[in-house]
Amino acid sequence: MIKHSILAALVAFGLTTGGAQAAGGGGHVEDIAFSFEGPFGKFDQMQLQRGLQVYTEVCAACHGLRQVAFRTLGDAGGPQMEAGQVKAFAALFEVADEGDDAEPGDTRPGKPADKFPAITDAGAPDLSLMAKGRAGFHGPMGTGLAQLFKGMGGPEYIASILIGYTGEEKEEAGVTLYENTAFAGGWISMPPPLEDDSVEYRDGHSADLHHASEDVSAFLMWAAEPKLMARKHTGFLAVSFMILLTSLLYLTNKKLWAGPKRKD
Ligand code: HEC
Repeated sequence: MIKHSILAALVAFGLTTGGAQAAGGGGHVEDIAFSFEGPFGKFDQMQLQRGLQVYTEVCAACHGLRQVAFRTLGDAGGPQMEAGQVKAFAALFEVADEGDDAEPGDTRPGKPADKFPAITDAGAPDLSLMAKGRAGFHGPMGTGLAQLFKGMGGPEYIASILIGYTGEEKEEAGVTLYENTAFAGGWISMPPPLEDDSVEYRDGHSADLHHASEDVSAFLMWAAEPKLMARKHTGFLAVSFMILLTSLLYLTNKKLWAGPKRKD
């Protein structure tokens, strides 16, 4: 009986998550063991810094990150850059100048309190929430149960797009499309943005296609969910506290009833 209701709950959960997230589905998504998965998962600070480098040097040419403030790059649990580095980094970007004597369209160098610029010229979607907006895992049979075990698969989806190019191209209504095994429908208009050693990492880490794809996906997961670690930590504390409280209540209850029960 109990088993049946648990199963029913699992299926219901799977149906709702699977149904709501159908948007990014369709293609093949690789399961990647990211450091931030599981109840004790943490972002890897060096990986986030590498991912930021990939975003800045490659993706930022077309994709904005308009919901992410430069200042957060210095936060604990994130790339955790030093204050001076954050300041220098922000100044590399031109943001809209909204000062008193600025003309519309004026720009100025970024400051830590600003957000990454929105970039729309290339018709590419903003990446701020992409890692949460796409689900990589669905199934089996549309239930979405796979997500219970592998996670939503947002960062996996992004990495799979970056490594999923087959090399085939076609023209459609004047637009070049590139075959991609992870993209729904199989053809994407983004030219392959990464190849082996597109960037040269300062920490000497390998920058082959797979590593660079994983790094930038991890960074985009952080961008979408910077408080992931804090949330897990709070959740863990809450559950531990509930277990402790339950045990104490159980013992209290036993002790309170020990007398009356003995008399019977
Ligand atoms: C030359 C411009 C360009 C560059 C550079 C570029 N992209 Fe894109 N990207 C696009 C365009 C255009 C689309 C929309 C593609 C479509 O819908 O067919 C896109 C779409 C995407 C998508 C969305 C797929 C979806 O499900 O809608 C992701 C994820 C993505 N890019 C990630 C990246 C990452 C990560 C980088 C850096 C490594 C990058 N892109 C670099 C132009 C670019």
